[in-house]
Amino acid sequence: MQHVLQEALDYSVAMTRQNMATMTDFPERCEGDSWLCMNQKLDPPARNHWIDGFWVGLLWLTHAHTDDPAIATAAREWSEQLAWLCTSTDTHDLGFIFYLSHVLGGRITGDHALFDNAIQAAETHIKRYNPYGEYLQAWGAIDGPAHDRGRTNIDLMMNLALLFWCSVHTGDSRYARIAEHHARTSRFVLVRPDDSTVHVADFDPETGAFLQHATHQGLSAASCWSRGHAWGVYGFTEAYQYTGNPSFLAVAQRLAHYAMRHAPPDLVPFWDYDSPDIPNTFRDTSAAAAMAAGLLELATCESDEDARKRWHDYAEALLLALWQNYSTRDSAMPAILCQGSRSVPHGMANHGLIYGDYYFMQALTKLLRADLAGRAFSPPVSPRVM
Ligand code: GLY
Repeated sequence: MQHVLQEALDYSVAMTRQNMATMTDFPERCEGDSWLCMNQKLDPPARNHWIDGFWVGLLWLTHAHTDDPAIATAAREWSEQLAWLCTSTDTHDLGFIFYLSHVLGGRITGDHALFDNAIQAAETHIKRYNPYGEYLQAWGAIDGPAHDRGRTNIDLMMNLALLFWCSVHTGDSRYARIAEHHARTSRFVLVRPDDSTVHVADFDPETGAFLQHATHQGLSAASCWSRGHAWGVYGFTEAYQYTGNPSFLAVAQRLAHYAMRHAPPDLVPFWDYDSPDIPNTFRDTSAAAAMAAGLLELATCESDEDARKRWHDYAEALLLALWQNYSTRDSAMPAILCQGSRSVPHGMANHGLIYGDYYFMQALTKLLRADLAGRAFSPPVSPRVM
């Protein structure tokens, strides 16, 4: 199986090289034979730019695999284009943006000057913390209406690594403390007893009282949106890796079991586990790719050999399913994977997605190049950062 997945990794490197030659703006999704991009100047609200780090992350990974200095130069230039976002309080995704550009770049190249903007981004990101409800705010301005200030989501679990990393790097525990509090709140309000996840939770931002569940990209407040669920597996695993708090490991395991129990025969989830239209509805390959990357982290947290093997083998099977049935290699689509779903309720489905491609390549790197993955991704050896 390893040589088949090596083909998938080689293809990912080749596609990123090919895209590098033509890309002029940050790509988001791929329809037909072209990328739809976020133009820095035409789309200034920072919230439109949550996807920008994935393209840079693909470039850094491609540089790590090839040692090609031209790719490092490109990755650095694209990273610099993101610097304006490090003081923006208008997005809850500074973790996605700065971890995959500046932190990853600094770790891969050893140039720690890249970390400066990431530290500033962490400082900005904690302004979204609500101390009453102990959560980070999802969409909207931090001084916006109560509805926005009271909202959190499962996606934010993926933005905690920047905060944890920042505490390790600077020795200032404020970032990690906020990240741990947010993870604890998410565990209480976004994980159901049946091990599924909720996309969105609303609080009273003045008192911190929990009000209700909701969704933005899922089927309903009561359903389990598949990409959000993958963010949960990965994010709770990282929360465990950085804090050593076993309750986060237990949640990540529960969520991973749910994903296995509810997987379709070919393993790649539909956009929402509860869609009544399954199997005649859209897949989300980005959910499968993020799940595989998260499961490979989860495997490293297990002391029990059977558990370690379970997550590792399932991640490997997911990657094989993606490569065999959902790659673009026989089409003109310039993404790596097809059949992602940006947001089915908003009419965006069945396309390539830059984050699906990024997590596919990240997971393949973890599986096939442990040396590179250790340099790029592994959390601190001593997990306690509080
Ligand atoms: N973080 C937004 C998404 O997963 O679509």
